[in-house]
Amino acid sequence: MPPFLLTAATSPLAVATAHHLVRLGHDVVALARNPARATELPPGVEVLEVDLSDPAAIDRLSLPEVAGVMHLAGILRASAHPVPHGWADGPDHVDLTWATNVLGPLRLVHRLLPTLPDGAPVALISGSTHRRAPLPDARFASTGFRAGLQATTAKVMWARALARRRPDLVATTFCPGRVESGLHRGLPWPLSWLGALAALSARDATEVAPVLVPLLLHGHTSGTYLEAGVRSAPAPHTSDEALQDAVWDRVASWAKA
Ligand SMILES: NC(=O)c1ccc[n+]([C@@H]2O[C@H](COP(=O)([O-])OP(=O)(O)OC[C@H]3O[C@@H](n4cnc5c(N)ncnc54)[C@H](OP(=O)(O)O)[C@@H]3O)[C@@H](O)[C@H]2O)c1
Repeated sequence: MPPFLLTAATSPLAVATAHHLVRLGHDVVALARNPARATELPPGVEVLEVDLSDPAAIDRLSLPEVAGVMHLAGILRASAHPVPHGWADGPDHVDLTWATNVLGPLRLVHRLLPTLPDGAPVALISGSTHRRAPLPDARFASTGFRAGLQATTAKVMWARALARRRPDLVATTFCPGRVESGLHRGLPWPLSWLGALAALSARDATEVAPVLVPLLLHGHTSGTYLEAGVRSAPAPHTSDEALQDAVWDRVASWAKA
C-alpha cells in the first residue's frame, strides 16, 4: 500500500500520528519546512522539505503516490504579515495565515486529488473557532486573528465541498481538542505567555493520535467534522453550499495559478 502523507512533521500531533500509523503497519511520508528539526518521527519515515506558504515550493515537490493525506500544520498569528512568496497579490490581500493554513495545503491536496485511490482519507486540522468565524465571503481578505479564525471555517467548508464533489474520498475536518503544541510561540506577548500556560494543561498528543487516526482512516462518512475524537455537527453556516462552492472555486483558482 502507498504511504500516507502527513504535513507538520515537527508538531507533536503529527509525530504521534506518524508513530501510530507505523504501529498499524502503514508507511508514512512527512513534510516539514525544516527536515533537520523533524527528529522525532519513527525510523524509516521519509521527510520531504516544503514551506507550505510557498506555492513554487509546493509545485516543485516530487510527490509519491499516496494512500491519503493528513494536513496537521498551521500557524496562528495576531498581526497581518506581508503576502509571502509567489502568491499573486491583488485587491484581495492574502495574509500569511491564509497561505499557510488554507492556500498552500490545499494547493498540495489539489495536486494529489487526481491520483488518490478509492476511500482515501483527506483530513484537515481545523479548530472549533470556526463556530465564531462565519466567512462573510470567500475572498480570504482578512488578516491577523480574524484570518486565523476564518481559516478554520474555510477548511470545514472546503472539505464539505470536496465530500460532495468526490464521494469516492473521505474528507474530514477536525479539531483535536487542546493538544500539546508549539502554537503559542507565534503569538505576541502577553498572549504567548497565556498560551504557554494553557499548553501546560493540554493533552498529550500520544493520547490523542490513537483515537484520531482510526477515525480518519475508516470511522465515519465523508464531510464529517470531528471534535476531540467525537463526530460533531459543525456550525450551521458551514452548510451553506453556495459559500462552500465559492470557497472551493477560490482555492481551485489559487491552486491552478
Ligand atoms: N494544538 C491544539 O490544541 C489545537 C486545537 C485546535 C486547532 N489546532 C490547529 O492545529 C494546527 C496546528 O497546530 P499545532 O497545535 O499542531 O501547532 P504546532 O505544534 O505549532 O505545529 C505547527 C506545525 O506547522 C508547521 N508549519 C507552520 N508553518 C509552516 C509552513 N509555512 N510550512 C510548513 N509547515 C509549517 C510547523 O513547522 P515548524 O516546526 O517549521 O514551525 C509545525 O510543525 C493549527 O492550524 C491550529 O489552529 C490546534
